[in-house]
Order: sequence, then structure tokens, then C-alpha cells
Amino acid sequence: MNERRNRAWRLAARPSGAIKESDFRLVEEAVPAPQPGEALVRTIYLSLDPTNRIWMSDVDQYMPPVQLGDVMRGGTLGVVEQSHDPALKPGDIVQGMWGWQDYACVASSGLRNRIAAGDATPLTAHMSVLGGTGLTAYFGLLDHGQPKAGETVVVSAAAGAVGSIVGQIAKLQGCRVVGIAGSDDKCRWLTTELGFDAAINYRKENVLEALRRHCPQGIDVDFENVGGETLDAVLALVNNYSRIVLCGLIATYNDDVKVAGPARFANILMKRVKVQGFIVTDFLKRFPEGRAQLAQWLNEGKLKYQVDVVRGLENAPKAVGKLFTGENKGKLLVQVSDEPPR
Ligand SMILES: NC(=O)c1ccc[n+]([C@@H]2O[C@H](COP(=O)([O-])OP(=O)(O)OC[C@H]3O[C@@H](n4cnc5c(N)ncnc54)[C@H](OP(=O)(O)O)[C@@H]3O)[C@@H](O)[C@H]2O)c1
Repeated sequence: MNERRNRAWRLAARPSGAIKESDFRLVEEAVPAPQPGEALVRTIYLSLDPTNRIWMSDVDQYMPPVQLGDVMRGGTLGVVEQSHDPALKPGDIVQGMWGWQDYACVASSGLRNRIAAGDATPLTAHMSVLGGTGLTAYFGLLDHGQPKAGETVVVSAAAGAVGSIVGQIAKLQGCRVVGIAGSDDKCRWLTTELGFDAAINYRKENVLEALRRHCPQGIDVDFENVGGETLDAVLALVNNYSRIVLCGLIATYNDDVKVAGPARFANILMKRVKVQGFIVTDFLKRFPEGRAQLAQWLNEGKLKYQVDVVRGLENAPKAVGKLFTGENKGKLLVQVSDEPPR
């Protein structure tokens, strides 16, 4: 019998508007015992993502919603403590989706990735630039956006986990890159540290006017993370045969009523725009390829990333709100327990 306790955040209510702490309930349970074919993992990092808001809601979506009473879904990285799965051994560091809890029993077949022994890359990089958000940027931009040297790429939520990598990859392709973000500090980071050609603070500037100024040749690729008025401003300036990579619509995730479509929808027709919605897991089979390329760019110093690490599983419900106020600086993670020596 295991004496240690497992804390788990379970979904208590479907959110209305912004996520509230009372939408979750913290439950303490016995640490589960791994069955044959399973290993016990201790969570080190938990990923907090805008899509948490979608998963909590009973709306049409790309996965079943989290059910009331279930452990909240979330991307995780942890260390194997005990194993009855021949493919896993104590000390292995693995990534999966075992959710908002201290411990879980997992089978190797259900894991997303294993960190190679001897890999000295920070674990937080595996949860950001080399993890789901980096892969979203990589496949979304390159496969769906098809950017070509000399083209103009616009990125919204540009200083965030996905957006900041999108802009840097677009620069590596020889594009002109314009970011849209919510503070002067974030805009400065984009232009002075990440090499964006221009950045627009949407809280201070008229986005359409600023886009007109910074995209004199129009927009060839829009990597859309926000939607709403931001997308509408982009639609005013899209070029013929441009591409909109519809990655996220964070401006409307907290809306309980259905939002009207973009006012400039007709421009998709007039300018023959290709709009492609996508979910990063569409590319699951190609994740190793994406990770390898991102790791190479990272090692060559061509990609920079930021992580915003909140300590303590108990703080997860409050911390997730940072994604919707813009308080997060880079990939938002919860450190649930200490990293093992590597
Ligand atoms: N399709 C996929 O597979 C996939 C995978 C991962 C993420 N995504 C999407 O990608 C987008 C970014 O996700 P992320 O994980 O990288 O998060 P993130 O960008 O690190 O954090 C979210 C950012 O969105 C901005 N934001 C929040 N509310 C906003 C609003 N009402 N209007 C404008 N900006 C707002 C905030 O930055 P500011 O300070 O700039 O406002 C905030 O920092 C989200 O839409 C997410 O759903 C999609």
C-alpha cells in the first residue's frame, strides 16, 4: 500500500466567462499502484494552455470535453518512479497527457515522448519550444502557411509560446514578419531580441492602421492565434492567394454567446485566400521530424524561447487565467515537483 498522497484537480463546473478557481476541486487520493504494463510517473511540469478553456466547455471541439468530476486534462512531463512496463524504467523522463495531478499510472504506448538519456536540454524547453507549442508553430507555419522568402507574415499573440516561435521560423524562411501583441514590453522583445521586423501593441494602436503601415506589400501569410477584430483587420490587407493558418481564436474562448463571423469574410473570396484550421496532433506521426528541426535551430542559437513557470500544483487554476489577461511571459508551465538530477 502506497502511503503517499496524490493531489488531483478535478473539473467541478463548466466555466461561464473567465475560468474561476471554483470550476475545479482539489481532491487528495492514494497514489495509484501501477498494474502490469503500466508505470507510475511523478509529474514535474504541467502545461497550461488556452485550449484548457475549450476542454472545460461542453461545445463542439476536436476532442471530447473533460467530463465533470474527471481529472483536468493537460500536457505533462514527469519521471518514472516504478515500472511494470518493460519499455520504461525508473528514472526515465517522459511526456504525456496525464493531467493536473501529482502522480499517474501510464503505459508507454500512451506517452507522447521520452527524453533521451544524456539529453542536456532544459526540461522546460521540452515543454515549450520542443514541445506542443513549438510543434504547432513549426507545422502550422511551414505546412499550412507555406511562407516564401520575401513574403509578409503576420502573427497574432506574437509574444506568446506559439507566436514567438512562428515569427522566428518565418524569419528563418526569409520573410518580413509583423507581430501583434498586448504590451510595449512584449513588442520590444519581439523586435529587439527575436528579430521581428515590426510589432504592434493592439492595446494602444489601431491594428488596421498599423498593419497598413508595416505591411506595405500586403499580407501573404496570417498565423492567426486571436481571431475577432484582429483577424478582421488582417482580412482588409490580405493579398491574392494568401494563406490564413487558423491556429487559435483566444479572443473569443471566454464568450458564452456565439460570436459573429469576421465582417470582412467576403475578402476570403475576393482575394482567393486559403484558410486552414488545424490542430497540432494532425501531425503526430511527424513530431520526431519537427522536434529534430526545432532542436537543431535551438542548438544553433537560431531560436529563442521564454517560459513562465508557476510553482505548485495548487496554483494551477489561478495561473491558467494569465493566458487570458496576457500576464504570461512565454510558455506557461506549472512546476509540480522538483526535477531529478540529470
Ligand atoms: N491549433 C493548435 O493545435 C494549437 C496548439 C497550441 C496553441 N494553439 C492556440 O494558439 C494560441 C496561442 O497559444 P499559446 O499556448 O501560445 O498561448 P500564449 O500565446 O503563450 O498565451 C496566450 C496569449 O494570448 C493573448 N491574448 C489573450 N487574450 C487575448 C485577447 N482577448 N485578444 C488578443 N490577445 C489575447 C495574450 O497575449 P497579449 O499580451 O499579446 O494579449 C496571452 O499571453 C491560442 O489561440 C491557442 O488556442 C493552438
